[in-house]
Amino acid sequence: MSKPDTATWIEKDRKQLHPVYHPKSHANPLVIERGEGVWLYTTDGQKILDGMAGLWNVNAGYGREELAQAAFDQMKRMAFTSNFSGMTNLPSITLADKLAGFAYPGLNTTFFTSGGSEANDSAFKTARYYWKRKGKPGKYKVIARKGSYHGVTLSATFATGLEKYQTMFGPAVDGFVHIPAPNLYRYEGDLKPGESVGLAAARALKEVIQREGKDAIAAFIAEPVMGVGGVIVPPPDYFPHVREICDENEILFIADEVITGFGRTGEWFALKHWNVKPDILSFAKAITSGYAQLGGIQISDEIRETMESATETETYMHGFTYSGHAMACAVGLKNIELMEKENFPARARELGARLQEGLKTLLEFPFVGEVRGIGLVCGVEIVSNKDAKTADPATAMKIFKAAQVRGLRSRPLGNVLAFSPPLSINEDEIDEIVKRLGAAMDGVV
Ligand SMILES: Cc1ncc(COP(=O)(O)O)c(C=O)c1O
Repeated sequence: MSKPDTATWIEKDRKQLHPVYHPKSHANPLVIERGEGVWLYTTDGQKILDGMAGLWNVNAGYGREELAQAAFDQMKRMAFTSNFSGMTNLPSITLADKLAGFAYPGLNTTFFTSGGSEANDSAFKTARYYWKRKGKPGKYKVIARKGSYHGVTLSATFATGLEKYQTMFGPAVDGFVHIPAPNLYRYEGDLKPGESVGLAAARALKEVIQREGKDAIAAFIAEPVMGVGGVIVPPPDYFPHVREICDENEILFIADEVITGFGRTGEWFALKHWNVKPDILSFAKAITSGYAQLGGIQISDEIRETMESATETETYMHGFTYSGHAMACAVGLKNIELMEKENFPARARELGARLQEGLKTLLEFPFVGEVRGIGLVCGVEIVSNKDAKTADPATAMKIFKAAQVRGLRSRPLGNVLAFSPPLSINEDEIDEIVKRLGAAMDGVV
């Protein structure tokens, strides 16, 4: 029997509602049939270099047999069993043990979810739980940053600092307050003469704590490097000050490392660049390189100890059917083994430097305002006027489409084109990203 053609697939595709759905954006999707390494193959014969590693997550690249084998072996043995009270399973035990202290010292306890939004929701609930147990139930608010992305559960939606994700879903969940992020290219907060952007953005945190009252605030959440908000790399003086301010005010620091975790930025976890440690860490995506749905939070020993002494009525009434999913955890374990063997953080550092260097040659185009990044995550900011830094999302979209025609997939984030390729990428493929993007830009000048 012959396979349906692409038009038939697209017609059938209308039966599903896609994430971030508008009928226009799904009118003519690429229909992907298979992937190998950094390459995707469509049903109509296109070969596309996936410059985004799926959604910042397929770090090991496509078609890894080791990961398929790990899933197969575990599924045959036992795909799933409940991890609720009174039961546990071997892959989740082994993975939690592997993760103990892996990201940051003192974060030795893991709670598993199926993805990043659930992880952040769990982080917020855990922060509230912690303060209630500490006898401070008034501490419930969460401070987040403008431009941040934390996911799409109802609470993650309103922790997110991008209004377009909220417009159709209000009224807002109570308790999320936003401050400016330390964006070096276009800082939107108040900058005193002689003050660095890092210090000004940290001062914004101090001021919001004064305004809201430290007794009302449970936690501060930040992506160490903002992804969806346009790949914003913070200046080095920002996070050390943020950590100090959180400590001074008894506020938990939640690091959302859903994109930055597991090597992407050139360290296993990104706050290490600035020698800072969170109280709660959210992770997802690259823990399995996208081969299975897995995320989670890690909590500090102090939070763990506070939970240990709970009374019966204070039980942590939180958990998902798939918390500690056996197959997903087995894939996560195999993926970490593979990432260690192939030294992904070092690859991200070395190949990331090559990618940034290559992308910077594109600064000669009149509409490339900035190229920035850290490790293998980069943003190319498209502007209509370099001096005024006028954001130009329409040209960014044109370049995105022109690049796709030339077999390169990036991600348009407003006026920023993001690149976050598999960490398994090689030098030639990095050069290919730059070449194809340059050709796309030539096409729209
Ligand atoms: C920083 C960050 N946090 C949370 C999420 C949400 O993760 P998920 O889509 O797995 O729920 C994402 C997804 O892109 C993200 O980039």
